[in-house]
Amino acid sequence: MTEHVLRPVRDPAEARFEESLRPRKLAEYIGQDKVTANLQVFIAAALARAETLDHVLLFGPPGLGKTTLAHIIGNEMGVPVQVTSGPVLERAGDLAAILTNLQPQSVLFVDEIHRMAPAVAEILYPALEDFSLDLVVGMGPAARTMRLPLPPFTLVGATTRAGLLPAPLRDRFGIVHRLDLYDAESLSTIVRRSAGILAAPITADGAGEIARRSRGTPRIANRLLRRVRDFAHARGEPTITLDTARYGLERLEVDAFGLDELDRRMLTAIIEHYGGGPVGLKALAATLGEDEGTLEDLYEPFLLQAGFLQRTPRGRTATARARQHLGYPAAGGEQQGLFGSDGP
Ligand SMILES: Nc1ncnc2c1ncn2[C@@H]1O[C@H](COP(=O)(O)OP(=O)(O)OP(=O)(O)O)[C@@H](O)[C@H]1O
Ligand SMILES: [Mg+2]
Repeated sequence: MTEHVLRPVRDPAEARFEESLRPRKLAEYIGQDKVTANLQVFIAAALARAETLDHVLLFGPPGLGKTTLAHIIGNEMGVPVQVTSGPVLERAGDLAAILTNLQPQSVLFVDEIHRMAPAVAEILYPALEDFSLDLVVGMGPAARTMRLPLPPFTLVGATTRAGLLPAPLRDRFGIVHRLDLYDAESLSTIVRRSAGILAAPITADGAGEIARRSRGTPRIANRLLRRVRDFAHARGEPTITLDTARYGLERLEVDAFGLDELDRRMLTAIIEHYGGGPVGLKALAATLGEDEGTLEDLYEPFLLQAGFLQRTPRGRTATARARQHLGYPAAGGEQQGLFGSDGP
């Protein structure tokens, strides 16, 4: 159960619930202040000049609001948003069909853009640069390239793995923003906003408790709120209090700091197999049988933010806070023996 509720990735069963909580305007979008302040300026400028907005790349871990922002950009620009994703665009023709049918000025949102096939990306380049499509007509020696003008549009690309984007694609985005994990205060505001929409009254400390256990991720905060609301209902409590929140989160087996199973395995491995670190990410990934990129992009940011992990030039180390939370004695010469002969 824990694994599921704390997993930041989209759950198709939650699509309608998420949709209902999605902010529609920049002003309703909580946190990520630098990102929203900049977008506000760029959008206002584009509107004032009656131009299309520059292409926007949004990257960051799942559940932080990339899709939400893409739709907000469309709303604020007052234009339609056409949605597709990297894996869906299998052939160049799939993208060409979308591009030629766009309403002028509209937003084309490409989710998981790092998973776009190279042949598809190829036709995107001229489209992004000067709104044109290079078509090859005919075959063999008779083949010619024809340039077709496209309606102007704004590409909003989203990815959890910016490192996997080919440089020529990355370079064609005028606006690039990284979304960071949310602090507990912003998450708490998000929980209270969502509770308002769900007509589920919640106290400030109840919201704070959910926020604290949500791995810095609005998607998880909303999910926990929804489940906790059910526990409040079952207990016949009209308002979600700190006590109810704690009770519900306990029942859901949510860790006091929102650590999930892989977080724990990661920290435990560092402590038990590498004497607390430092250990390189590659070695750690091999020990855990996990993908290096998954650890770096999806797990590390939260563990760093929450103060369980530290990055040093020589690798990752588990902090005193991690030891304490996982029930290990504080690091110190005489205690190393506890972890067997592979300690230093
Ligand atoms: N800044 C925010 N303020 C309020 N709610 C937010 C905010 N960011 C995200 N949310 C909520 O969190 C949920 C997840 O957001 P969203 O789907 O936009 O994430 P994502 O970054 O696109 O995730 P993925 O990488 O999995 O596609 C949405 O239901 C949205 O309501
Ligand atoms: Mg998304």
